[in-house]
Amino acid sequence: MTGPETRPGVLLTPNYVAGKREIDGVSEPIKLSSNESPHGPGRRALEVYAALATTLCRYPDRSQGELRQAIARAHALPASQLVLGNGSDEIIQMVMRAYVGPGDEVILSANCFAMCRTHALGQGATVVPAPEPRFRVSVDEILRRVTPRTRFVAIASPNNPFGTYLPAAQLHRLHAGLPQNVILLVDAAYSEYVTDDDYDNGTQLAATAPNVIMTRTLSKLYGLAALRIGWGLAATPIVQAIEHLRMPFNVNAIAQSVAAAAVLDFEHAQYVRQYNRRERDRVSQAFRELGFEVVPSSANFVLILFPDGPRNGDDAYRHLMARGIIPRPVGLEPANSLRFTIGLESENDAMLSALREYMSGA
Ligand SMILES: Cc1ncc(COP(=O)(O)O)c(C=O)c1O
Repeated sequence: MTGPETRPGVLLTPNYVAGKREIDGVSEPIKLSSNESPHGPGRRALEVYAALATTLCRYPDRSQGELRQAIARAHALPASQLVLGNGSDEIIQMVMRAYVGPGDEVILSANCFAMCRTHALGQGATVVPAPEPRFRVSVDEILRRVTPRTRFVAIASPNNPFGTYLPAAQLHRLHAGLPQNVILLVDAAYSEYVTDDDYDNGTQLAATAPNVIMTRTLSKLYGLAALRIGWGLAATPIVQAIEHLRMPFNVNAIAQSVAAAAVLDFEHAQYVRQYNRRERDRVSQAFRELGFEVVPSSANFVLILFPDGPRNGDDAYRHLMARGIIPRPVGLEPANSLRFTIGLESENDAMLSALREYMSGA
């Protein structure tokens, strides 16, 4: 006897592979696998968190007012154009649910967030990948794939695993080249780390255009990955459509209040941004001195490519894991790459010395 059938696409969705977090027999591994902040949240967020223990019996604020207002204030945005999610991941899911269905085509730039593909397939849509030559989003590769069936386009800027961004002029060219009935998702999860002058995270487009949504997260620079908080900015009709689908208490009460404190702690954000830039430069330079090609990253991680020869990403991964260090293999073929989150100085030093040992054949 056969049971009920799933909707088209549901069983096509891949399982998300999270960054590895443990090594057998190692009590505190150096975890450089998920682009988390090694600094954690700032003092203000931690104080709010500690004070919330007595409120656990209460439901979250269904209107998410405190966090909406805090984000609006921190970024000078209208609160009515914000949508909050259980991670930016959930916002991607909600916007896909609202706008994408069977028969639609969804163009995904090759290195946009993996969950875009999952949610598009889950909606029964056809995923159309657009290559990213030389590790970068290509506006031409995306636009050349637009058909009358295209309903949705997604990029990540900076992208992952490379950390490259789409310059402002290119972002505007992409938007201008899309029909207005196509939603453009700009996943700006790593935007807080970018210090390059010609970067545009999509805020102004999302605030003014009828078909753009920008997503952000508190999982990275704000050090709150465990609480799962993301937000999006879009035209009011898009926000309203998502509000129809949003679970009433999708962002839990602790997350709402802690995040409200975190987004207004400009000092902590500035500290983490400056630390990351300094340390990313130092680590990138050290990688180059070891003979790797380093993709220039504007985010909080760096991808290295192994030089031709006997040394490769798979063996290096095993070598590092055996020394208590967890990098992220990203499945580039041949296995000639590894991605490293920028950790604390001491963690990066340990990682570099283990890699030096591997490259010298010791
Ligand atoms: C490009 C990109 N977008 C989004 C996310 C997910 O963020 P969140 O934790 O808010 O779901 C990640 C997480 O690694 C990411 O790399």
